[in-house]
This record gives sequence, C-alpha cells and structure tokens, in this order.
Amino acid sequence: MSAATTPVLEGRNLTKYFWVKQGRGPFARRAPVHAVDNVSLALDAGKVTAIVGESGAGKTTVARILARIIQPDQGQVFLAGKPAPKGRSRSYAAQVQMVFQDPFASLNPVHRVSYDLLRPLRIHRFVTRDADASVNELLKRVALNPPAQFAAKFPHELSGGQRQRVSIARALAVRPRVLIADEPVSMLDVSIRLGVLNLLADLRNEEGLAILYVTHDIASARYLADTISVMYAGQLVESAPSAQLTDSPAHPYTQLLISAAPDPDRTSPPHLKGRGAPPSLLAPPSGCRFHPRCPYVMDICKSQAPPSIPVAPGHVSACWLHVNPASRDASGNGVPATAGSATEKETKR
Ligand SMILES: Nc1ncnc2c1ncn2[C@@H]1O[C@H](COP(=O)(O)OP(=O)(O)O)[C@@H](O)[C@H]1O
Ligand SMILES: [Mg+2]
Repeated sequence: MSAATTPVLEGRNLTKYFWVKQGRGPFARRAPVHAVDNVSLALDAGKVTAIVGESGAGKTTVARILARIIQPDQGQVFLAGKPAPKGRSRSYAAQVQMVFQDPFASLNPVHRVSYDLLRPLRIHRFVTRDADASVNELLKRVALNPPAQFAAKFPHELSGGQRQRVSIARALAVRPRVLIADEPVSMLDVSIRLGVLNLLADLRNEEGLAILYVTHDIASARYLADTISVMYAGQLVESAPSAQLTDSPAHPYTQLLISAAPDPDRTSPPHLKGRGAPPSLLAPPSGCRFHPRCPYVMDICKSQAPPSIPVAPGHVSACWLHVNPASRDASGNGVPATAGSATEKETKR
C-alpha cells in the first residue's frame, strides 16, 4: 500500500465483550455483552468518516477502542499503518484526540478557559514564550472571537456551543492528526449544531484532520461526512460514500433508519416503530442480528450471518438479499469468497 492510501487510523476486526453480572445470589454468573463484533473502519486524512446507529449499537465502544481508552478483545488498531501499542500513551494521545458529547462534563467548572487550554499545551510542550498568544491562537481556530475575552471566562459563562468549541480547541492543542467526536452536537440546541458541524468541516478541509463523527443522526452524517458506516447491534451492516449510502441504501436496516429520520418533505409517519427494538447484546439473535426486525427476512438469515457484499464501488452491505439465491441454495458453494469466513465465525460462537 502506498503512503498516500494508508489510513491515518484504522481498526481491523475489532471485537469487544463487556462482562456483566447476571442473576442473584448463588445463581449469579457473569455473561458477556457482545458490544462490538468484528468491526473494521479506516479514517483518512482530510476526510470525515461517520459511524451511525441507534443507541446501544456499539458506536462509543468502537470510538473508545480507536482512542486506545479501552482494549479490544480481538482485532488490531493501526496508526499510520503501524500496529498501535497497547494503552493510550502520551504520544498516541497527541495524535488521536477525543471530543465528547457533554461539553459541561468535560470542562472543569473551577478553571478558566485559558487554564483548560494551557494544560495540554504545557504537557506536550507546545507553549511558545507567550502563553496567552498560544491560547488565543487556539480560540481563533475554533472561531471564539475575541479570543482574549473567551480565555478569561469560566465554563458556566459559556453557551453549550461555545463550550463544545473550547473542548475542540483543547483537543487541537496537542496538534492531533485524528479527532474522534462522539455525538459532539447531540446535547446542543438545534440552532447551534450546524455551526459546530461546520467547524469540524473546516478542520477537515483546512487542516487535513482525519475525523470520526459518531452520531445517531443519519441526516447530520450525510451533511458532514465523506463516508458513512452504519452499525446495528454491535456489527457494521453497511458502509459507503455518504450521498450513495443515503440516496441508495442497500441494507434493510439502513433503509429503515433513513425512513425513520425526520424529513420535511415526507408526510407519512416514520415506520421504524412497530418493527421492534434492537436486541439484547447479552444474547444477540443468531444469523443476521437484524433478522427479527427485517421486513425481508429469509430462512438463511436466521441461521447464518451474512457476509459483506460489494454492491457498488466503495459500497458494501452485509445482507443475504445481495447474494444470488441460486448460489445461496448450493450449501454455501458459489457464494462470494467472504461468505465462508463470516459463516465459520458465526458457527464457532
Ligand atoms: N462498561 C460497560 N459495561 C457493560 N456494558 C457496556 C459497557 N459499555 C457499553 N456497554 C454495552 O455495550 C453496548 C454498546 O454500547 P455503546 O458502545 O455505548 O453504544 P452506543 O454508543 O452506540 O450507544 C450496549 O449494550 C451497552 O449497554
Ligand atoms: Mg454512545
């Protein structure tokens, strides 16, 4: 692979279980939550990649694995093509920064903005002789003007959008190559979401950052992201360039997600409700995890996990609908090459 095509950050076949206590007293035992199963994702410089899915789909877990905050049970993380060492080392943290959903919780209420920004600058030794100038420069990059005025404020004196801009400035302080933004606008007023999304777009366009945008809102993913990966119940079900994915969704779950998204042009109500809820990840459904909710469910969906099938350039979808029934019936023979491995994995579980 040439340097030009090497992703800045990549997760390959990431799998994560959380062990939780089940039952009480002598019958209590620990059981695994299958939070993330065999997810692969690549982030490129100057691109926004979105992970979209309902609550509980495993989005945050993938984000935390990529940030090296938690370790996957299986799979590998690569930074600039090299296996990333275990743990979130200072050098890793300097390259891969996170922005969280709640800017109130992530800023220390007793400190002024300048303190929050100077700390990472000092830790990573990026302070020039004039500390105020370094802080002001960061605040200008996130369009908090006049910067000196914002530097002197406490978090409670800022609006939600301004606080989130400070969080982003703090992430930028260490000059990262990757920004992982987990639902960065979902707690903000609708009226100021667009401004923060546009700031992320500017950081991509002007500074070439690789950005992971995690969201439950497919419309905002289409607005901001270059590519979208859809997660359902811990697995990636579909991935494509944003416009392609939202204009021509191939996976029945993506179709459902889009039909449920608010759309001012549509008069009929969303139809996601009435088709059940996401499954418990303590005992995920056999075969395709979406099969209990799928309007097109077939027998094979109940027993075998579908392989990822290329349906268009750069567009893959994990659904048996994309596999020719003739080849499907032939006991696995003739199904696309990837099918074998996916099926094997499923039967091992
Ligand atoms: N620390 C944890 N312990 C136990 N279960 C967890 C933990 N973190 C996440 N989970 C479970 O893993 C699944 C995926 O969670 P998460 O990654 O937070 O999803 P999302 O961000 O898409 O809402 C959920 O079922 C959640 O309850
Ligand atoms: Mg989450």
